[in-house]
Formats: sequence, C-alpha cells, structure tokens
Amino acid sequence: MFKEEVVKMTIKDFIFDREVDLASVVQGTFSWSSPSNIALVKYWGKKDNQIPANPSLSFTLSNCKTITSLEYKVKTKKGISFDLLFEGKPKEDFKPKVQKFFERILSYCPYIEDYHFVIDTENTFPHSSGIASSASGMAAMAVNIMSLEKALFPEMTDEYFDKKASFLARLGSGSACRSIVGSVVVWGEHKDIADSSDLYGVAFPEEVHEVFKDYCDVILLVDKGEKKVSSTVGHDLMHNHPFAKERFAQAHTNLAKLKNILVEGNLEEFISLVESEALTLHAMMMTSMPYFILMKPKTLKIIEKIWSFREQTKIPVCFTLDAGANVHLLFPKQDKDFVMTFIRQELAEHCQGKHFIEDQIGFGSERIK
Ligand code: DP6
Repeated sequence: MFKEEVVKMTIKDFIFDREVDLASVVQGTFSWSSPSNIALVKYWGKKDNQIPANPSLSFTLSNCKTITSLEYKVKTKKGISFDLLFEGKPKEDFKPKVQKFFERILSYCPYIEDYHFVIDTENTFPHSSGIASSASGMAAMAVNIMSLEKALFPEMTDEYFDKKASFLARLGSGSACRSIVGSVVVWGEHKDIADSSDLYGVAFPEEVHEVFKDYCDVILLVDKGEKKVSSTVGHDLMHNHPFAKERFAQAHTNLAKLKNILVEGNLEEFISLVESEALTLHAMMMTSMPYFILMKPKTLKIIEKIWSFREQTKIPVCFTLDAGANVHLLFPKQDKDFVMTFIRQELAEHCQGKHFIEDQIGFGSERIK
C-alpha cells in the first residue's frame, strides 16, 4: 500500500488500521492554506458517498484561499469533539458542516476520536462574496487531518498523503478534492487520464501549454448573497434529469478535447469549450424539476459585453460560471493590462459594490510552518 509507484487506490487503502502510540503525538498545532478552484469541465451530479456522475477538470486558484489551523490534544474519552473559530472567534453556525465532515471521515481516520480539536479558520476573500468557501475550507481541513495522520505514521509517502487528503476533502465537498495538489486537476475516472479516479483528484498528467501556466481569472462579484440553491440540492436534481445521460457523456467528450487543448494551447477551442460547459451547467439547472435560474440579468449583461469585447479586440477572454451569478473571466496573462481596463470601465458597474477579485492559476495546498 505504501510502495512508491501507487497506481490506483481503492477505498480500503484509505482506512487507517494501525496500532498507534498516542503518547508520541499528544498535542500540537498544524496550519495549512488551501486554494479555491474553478472548474472548466463541471461536476454536476453525484452518486452515493460523493462519487461524481462525471469527471471534471479545474484550474487551481492562487489568491482565493482558506487558511486553517488545527490544534489537537489527546483525550481519554473517545468521541468527536472540537471547537470552531472563524477569524479567531467562536462560530457556531459553521459547526454542523465540520461535524458532518468528521463523521464522514471517521471510518478512514479513527484516531480523530482520540483528540479534542480547536479549529481556527479564515478566508482571504470576504465571506459574503458569494464565493463558496466549501472547496478551500474542506481541503484545508483534510490536509490538516493528514498532517496528524502523518505524525502518527511518519513513514507515509507524500503521494499517499496527497491522495488521502484529496479523498477526505471529497467526502466534505466534492470540488474540494481538486484543491490539494496541482495547477490543473482532474477528478473522476476518464479513459484518457491514466491515474484518474472517482475517489480523489489527480494533477493533470501532461505538461500544459505555456499560455496556461499563468492564466488569469478575475471573479466578477455579481451577487454576494448566500447561494439560493445549494450545490447538494442541485446535484440531487440530476437524478431522473431528462438530459442527464447525454450531459454525463458530454463531460467525458469535453474532457478528452480539453486535454489536447491544454497541451496545444488552442485558445479558440478553449473558449468555446469552457463557455459551453458553463452554459450547459446552468442549462441543467433550468431543465431540472424543480427548475431554477441562478444567473442574474447582470450576469447576462456581462456575458454580452465579453462577447462583443472579444469580437472587437480579438483578445481571447472567455467566461465560466459556477453555481451562482458571479462570472469568472479567464484570459492569458499577457493581455492582463488591457482586460483589466475593460473590467474597470465596462464590467465593474455590473458587480455588487463594483467588486471583483483578481486571481490566477495557482499550485495547491501549502503547509504553513
Ligand atoms: C458548480 O463541490 O460544492 O461548482 O459535493 O455537494 O459539496 P458538494 O458540491 P460542490 O459542487 C460544485 C459544483 C460546481 C462545479 C464544479 O466545481 O465542478
């Protein structure tokens, strides 16, 4: 299980069943930062136990992060027990999510019942920005737990650490498993991605074209409110969805195409594939029962302006959307000055409080010493 060339892990490989010496890991603190990520091929629809209905691919972000520290102290009475702080202050309403995360990972990390934890977490982006912190937040929880597991079992390989961290993050929130390692991450089995797995995300196995290495993502904050429909409800509506079968097949085809596009750097094809994925995601929402619309008039206004800017300038900017009204504007770094002027002059007026977040492709979770 810990040999160097690990090909594909199974669920059993992630169960921690060693005798541990708690006396050697009594108390301490770990601290990690984990980034958000933006999917280009979307995960929308899942089976039991957080298994995706189709493979997805994302760019890891650099500036939008969650920073979480995990203080652990051994205790005698077994059970899940923790305090949760947000920016240093107790935050009761975040607790049920973390409780659920601990319950879901317990069979893989039984040692968590031997510790009391104090979790202190903060985001680099405003909480009320409409940016879901579940991906970065659950990823940061998972890497911290893995640091504890590594303290209990120091022989663990880095590869195992990363894969199990992604596996655990997935149990917290599907997209979180794409926030552990890599700039471009694939989650879900795909015939053209050798190591791909439904259980965890893997770094894109090919060298991407230069243009994508510092690709920019500016997030236009159209609606900073809480999500009207949770992703979990949305995923659920893909069961018995009239177009589900075609959509899941399309995601496989699109990922195969995107694989080549990322290697070759064909921006024209990149644009049509990415925008089509974004609109398909929303089309799934509009055609489920019950149906719903998460885009706002301002979302559409921004999309129209992007299209006409692209037409006029030939600058390869495109958009993607997640499950909300905000727009992610994607473009090559070399066009940044020009695009930023366009954003300030033309698009900021459609954002709440004229707010947007400048980000770019990043590298995954980092331990803070
Ligand atoms: C539209 O990962 O938030 O952003 O697994 O229920 O926590 P849960 O869902 P979540 O869904 C993300 C959906 C998406 C597309 C994507 O990131 O691939």
